[in-house]
Amino acid sequence: MSQSPSPASFSSPVAALVQGASRGIGLAFVRQLLEQRDAGVVIATCRNPQGAGVLSTLAEAHPGRLQVYPLDLLEEASIASAAKAVRARVEHLGLLINCAGVLHEPGRLQPERRVADVDADAFVHSVRVNTLGPLLVAKHFQGLFPASKRAVYASLSARVGSIGDNRLGGWYAYRASKAAQNMVTRNLAIELRRRARGIICVSLHPGTVDTGLSKPFQRGVPGHKLFTPEQAAAKLLSVIDSLDGESNGKFYAWDGSEIPW
Ligand SMILES: NC(=O)c1ccc[n+]([C@@H]2O[C@H](COP(=O)([O-])OP(=O)(O)OC[C@H]3O[C@@H](n4cnc5c(N)ncnc54)[C@H](OP(=O)(O)O)[C@@H]3O)[C@@H](O)[C@H]2O)c1
Repeated sequence: MSQSPSPASFSSPVAALVQGASRGIGLAFVRQLLEQRDAGVVIATCRNPQGAGVLSTLAEAHPGRLQVYPLDLLEEASIASAAKAVRARVEHLGLLINCAGVLHEPGRLQPERRVADVDADAFVHSVRVNTLGPLLVAKHFQGLFPASKRAVYASLSARVGSIGDNRLGGWYAYRASKAAQNMVTRNLAIELRRRARGIICVSLHPGTVDTGLSKPFQRGVPGHKLFTPEQAAAKLLSVIDSLDGESNGKFYAWDGSEIPW
C-alpha cells in the first residue's frame, strides 16, 4: 500500500456505491462519502429505502448527490435491477463497498458456541447473505468498473473469518461464511483484473463496532476498542485511499495492517 494518496485517489470526483447502507457501518460510509468527498455521486442500496429515513434526510441535505435503490441480497432479481438502474445513472464506479452482513437474527440465526448448536437453515442463511450476496453483487455490477482507471471493490469481512487467525473456535456459520467471502474476494481479484486493469479487490475488517450486529457480544470489549460506526468508516476510507495495485486480493484491518487468510 502507498502511504500518500495516489493521483487517482478518492479526493477526485468519482461515483461510489455502498451496498447495505440502511444503518450501521454502511450508513456511516454514505454520510462520510457525502460530507468529506468532492462532488462525486454516492449510490446507496438497501432492502427497504422507504424505511431508511436517515438516507432520505441525507438525500435532501445533498441534492443531486445521493441516489438510493432497493437491493435485497436474497433476491438476485433485485440485485440485477439495482445494477441496471445504476448503469443508467453513472458510467463507472470508482468504489463499491459491500457492507450488508448477518451475525444474528431473532428466531433465525444465533452464533453457535459449539458444534451441537449448528442449525442447517441458519448456516445456509449466513452463507446466502455474507458470501453469495457480495458475489452476486460482483456478478451484476462488474461491468461498471472502468477498463483501466483505479477502482476499488471492497467487502466488509471480519477478523473471525480468518482461518489463520482462528484461536477461539465457535461461531461456525459466521466464521465460515466470512472465510468463504474472503475466497470470493480473492477470486474476483484475479478474474476482474483481466478486464478492469485498475481494479483492487479487498476484504476489510472494521474492528469491533457499536452496531446492532455486535450489540449482544460487546461485553468484555474495552471502550477504546469499541468504535463508533463513524470511526470505523473513517478508518476504512483512509485504508481504501491508500490501496494500490499490490493490495489487490488482500485482507486489511481498520489500521491498514494485513490479516492472514
Ligand atoms: N459491527 C462489528 O463489530 C463488525 C465487526 C466485524 C465485521 N463486521 C461486518 O461489517 C458489516 C456491517 O456490519 P454492521 O455492524 O454495520 O451491521 P448492522 O448495523 O447490523 O447492519 C447490517 C446491514 O446489513 C443489511 N442486510 C442484512 N440482510 C440483508 C439482505 N438480505 N440484503 C441486503 N441487506 C441486508 C441490513 O439491512 P436492513 O436494515 O434492511 O436490515 C443492514 O444495513 C457486516 O458485513 C459485518 O459482518 C461488523
